[in-house]
Amino acid sequence: MSQVDAPMQAGPPEYFEDLRAQALSPGWAKKVPQMWAAPRSRFVPAVWRYAQARAALDSACSFVSPELAERRNLIMVNPVADNIYPTCRNLVAAYQLVLPSETARSHRHAPNALRLILDAGSETCTIVNGVRIEVAPGDVVLTPSWHWHGHSNSGDTPAFWIDFLDVPLVQNLECMFFEDHPQRNEPAMGDAPDSPLRHKGAHLARMAREQGTVELDTHGLHTTGVHMLGLKRGATHEQAKRIDNNLYTVVEGSVRMAIEHFGTVELTRGDVAVAPCWHAFSFEGLADWSQLVRVTDEPAMRALGFRDVSKPAQGD
Ligand SMILES: [Fe+2]
Repeated sequence: MSQVDAPMQAGPPEYFEDLRAQALSPGWAKKVPQMWAAPRSRFVPAVWRYAQARAALDSACSFVSPELAERRNLIMVNPVADNIYPTCRNLVAAYQLVLPSETARSHRHAPNALRLILDAGSETCTIVNGVRIEVAPGDVVLTPSWHWHGHSNSGDTPAFWIDFLDVPLVQNLECMFFEDHPQRNEPAMGDAPDSPLRHKGAHLARMAREQGTVELDTHGLHTTGVHMLGLKRGATHEQAKRIDNNLYTVVEGSVRMAIEHFGTVELTRGDVAVAPCWHAFSFEGLADWSQLVRVTDEPAMRALGFRDVSKPAQGD
């Protein structure tokens, strides 16, 4: 039966009562359609401002400590009715603050995670599976599924970054696991300044200037893609509607972003915009040089075999 056919409720009332008692429902009389012609995002385009989130994190320091909270972070909750967590269908993002002399205790979980460092002094690090990885502004640091990870700031400057995780996807797939490290803070057995889990910001900036767009090697992150996008002043980047969900963060300069069904907004360093699936969008560079990080669930879509069937198939 076509999903757009009008429901057919004809039939003896006692028949439908019997069905309900057996936890059955007539497929020819669905209350709402369960398939539709093209993607419908439950989530909406939205923007979060780094300056506002940073001020709110600063305020939280007076009453939220690493002892009290697993992480001192502010989750970017998509502002759609009844949502309490996801930033978009499969991803969640959060601003996080680690003060000097603080550690964020070690744990591991099924969701994949990555961090985009916004501001940090020297001696800020994340420890992944016992390896100490220094981080600096502009870095992208990967924490694949079920890798121990904790964070510490031994310097004298507050460290701010954005966490991106595929928690909503893992929740939907119902394959969640989580475990605290038995030693609270996992000890570092060694340093890895050139860890493949760390993409240094300076290198990414150089690649973006040379190539315009760069796809990062995400190693063990099978669900999440990370790309760099560079724009000169006045340059534009346009994206037609797609099936994947995308989060964009400005790491340098400023851009004007237009999103279908949302409008136009200017974004500056640390600001985050979400373009849910099936929303076309575009960027225009407003500074001499602007650079964005794109975090996307596109690899999950591809891995599961889902593609935009409204376009001819393209190679991977
Ligand atoms: Fe974590």
